[in-house]
Amino acid sequence: MTFNNSDTKKLLEIIKARRDVRGNRFVGAEIEKEKLDMILEAGISAPSVGYSQPWKFVVIKDNKTKENILKNFKQENDKAKEIFKDKELYTKLKLEGIKEAPINIAVLYEPKEKDVLGMTSMKKMGEYSVVCAIQNMWLMARALNIGIGWVSILDEKKVLKEIGASKDSMLIAYLCIGYVDKFYEESELKTLGWDKEKNLKDVVEYL
Ligand SMILES: Cc1cc2nc3c(=O)[nH]c(=O)nc-3n(C[C@H](O)[C@H](O)[C@H](O)COP(=O)(O)O)c2cc1C
Repeated sequence: MTFNNSDTKKLLEIIKARRDVRGNRFVGAEIEKEKLDMILEAGISAPSVGYSQPWKFVVIKDNKTKENILKNFKQENDKAKEIFKDKELYTKLKLEGIKEAPINIAVLYEPKEKDVLGMTSMKKMGEYSVVCAIQNMWLMARALNIGIGWVSILDEKKVLKEIGASKDSMLIAYLCIGYVDKFYEESELKTLGWDKEKNLKDVVEYL
């Protein structure tokens, strides 16, 4: 399969238009099953070290579970507020959309019992493979005009217990997914002045 210029341009547009979406933008409308499946299918189409496909997706709609995860977030965020107490902006930030999003997905890494090709030296490649799946999901969701927010201010062990994950699982991402009233044109943290955007000159080195 070969792609033409307009396909390439469209892909870049989708990549650039992807945003992290928090609770203040979700509108609460249900996500159609076929669209959710497209997002999950994008996830499992990601590359993985040694073709290990070490991911698992726990789709959460249950209100009680969401409430408990939100409680977990609030506890962890109170600790974070202490860390950033000099930055008044931190306390004003909305950093999750757990209740507002109709669907939450816990994306887990499930390590293999056997040795994995490509993971004999660099042991974190399994976890990185799951991150590839998450980025695929994020982009597919954006192409469907659906927003995703990644929440990481959580006590991982408590989340795993709450969702009944297997003993060795690791929480890689807790995602809030739903339709939005709008996608911001640039990162909200950039707009609010939390940090500056880096460009190619800042991050690329040629040897
Ligand atoms: C690994 C990872 C963890 C993140 N955790 C959070 C989080 O806990 N809360 C939040 O509001 N945003 C979180 N984000 C979103 C980032 O803040 C966001 O991607 C960044 O500000 C750039 O904005 P954009 O994604 O809209 O371009 C996370 C993003 C990544 C990649």
